[in-house]
Amino acid sequence: MTDDQRTDAPRTDAPRPCPGPAAAPRGAASPRKLYVKSFGCQMNVYDAERMIDTLAPEGFISVEVAEDADLVVLNTCHIREKAAEKVYSELGRLRVLKEAAAAEGRKLMVAVAGCVAQAEGADMVRRAPVVDLVVGPQSYHRLPELVARAADRPGLVETALTPEDKFDRLAPPSPAAIAGRGTAAFVTIQEGCSRFCTFCVVPGTRGGEVSRPVAAVLADVTRLANAGVREITVLGQNVNAYRGEGPDGAPWKLPRLLARLAEVPGIARLRYATSHPRAMSDELIAAHRDLPQLMPYLHLPVQSGSDRILAAMNRRHGRDLYFERIDRVRAARPDIAISSDFIVGFPGETDAEFADTMDLVRRVGFASAYSFKYSPRPGTPAAAMEAQVPDAVKSERLTALQALLEAQQRAFNAASVGRTVEVLFEKPGRLPGQIVGKSPHLQAVHVQAGPEMLGRIVPVRLVAVGSHTLFGELEDAAARPIAV
Ligand code: 5AD
Ligand code: SF4
Repeated sequence: MTDDQRTDAPRTDAPRPCPGPAAAPRGAASPRKLYVKSFGCQMNVYDAERMIDTLAPEGFISVEVAEDADLVVLNTCHIREKAAEKVYSELGRLRVLKEAAAAEGRKLMVAVAGCVAQAEGADMVRRAPVVDLVVGPQSYHRLPELVARAADRPGLVETALTPEDKFDRLAPPSPAAIAGRGTAAFVTIQEGCSRFCTFCVVPGTRGGEVSRPVAAVLADVTRLANAGVREITVLGQNVNAYRGEGPDGAPWKLPRLLARLAEVPGIARLRYATSHPRAMSDELIAAHRDLPQLMPYLHLPVQSGSDRILAAMNRRHGRDLYFERIDRVRAARPDIAISSDFIVGFPGETDAEFADTMDLVRRVGFASAYSFKYSPRPGTPAAAMEAQVPDAVKSERLTALQALLEAQQRAFNAASVGRTVEVLFEKPGRLPGQIVGKSPHLQAVHVQAGPEMLGRIVPVRLVAVGSHTLFGELEDAAARPIAV
């Protein structure tokens, strides 16, 4: 595994391909073709879907490749330098496509959305004149108007961080669009972050924390459930600090919201990401014991195992608080799978402080994890700190950390073999006759079974382990495909 990578196979926050074509409005002239490419986190996957929904009434249908498109939207991530640099290499490729389209008398528009757009604004157009429109995450509800204006005046930049509730202005997903999204879906319930970790660009690019009202979340989840979605992951950069306005006018916290979502007919599984250790409240921990729909999986980033580094990161928790939270979550739900994020080579990190991180990992035991070399981000306090760690040292530490985390992940998966778990089948596998689903612990499980099992939750006996996935057999012989 190279630097700046997770120890896991691309999974929950992997870029996903564009969802299937959304319905074009009836009677529209020839549809315009839209290709959205997402980088980065689950939040961007969700945002991409909302952009497609917002542009659908304008006659846009989504296509699978940039070559077929009239409008390409790059939905970007700014969290680490590598992620941001990928955008510029993609723009180089789009410049060639745009010139080829122009030579054929076709117009290809290029828009950049997401956190790089927010952070770089007009600089982006200067550096890459191929860009017709730069649009920050707070302005997606204005996409139809902005696309129309940029068609006449290329180089338009819209990155205001407005306090208005953009969630309410975004189009709800159409039934056809939802149908293409399978059986597990993400719903953003909170955006932005007010914690100001010193390495992180999120407070700058996504603004302060804003929670969606309960009624709006409920409406989205109900629509998704009616379209056959069985599993919902509610998203927020600091999701366990959720405080959305309830129907009673009082702020509801995450456990109450989850309990309400569990009542939506059809919703069998709930997850949430991403959490901060300090906001793991007693009520939320109790929900892992009391709410059967809440899956036994917790992504709880710790970043470092050193108290001095955690203080320099402004995490506002030490390693003991992390251990305490993990102990209590495990007391509530003993089989819970714990996942985390780590940064190695934060400015000033010594060998001994890195050893504290390795020690924390050994003590907790993770089922999966994402780990990164510290990447100085413009405008963040840590970027200006002295004692930046040389890249070679960061690489060495990352290699050691990832070897340990991978061994833990393999051990966690291997321990599942022989057990029977409920799998929600989501999509066909790569091999003929194979389908893939998720275990409650968010492990990918491959089974030989027919497509009629998609969307169902069935007991599967786990029989073997691959590098990042498990292989299973349907427990119920009657549910197995008939051999021909
Ligand atoms: N450098 C490296 N990793 C970072 N992350 C956030 N900012 C940086 C940075 N500047 C990681 C953190 C966070 C995850 C989403 O990305 O681990 O939890
Ligand atoms: Fe960034 Fe820290 Fe907020 Fe997470 S909690 S989004 S790392 S500022």
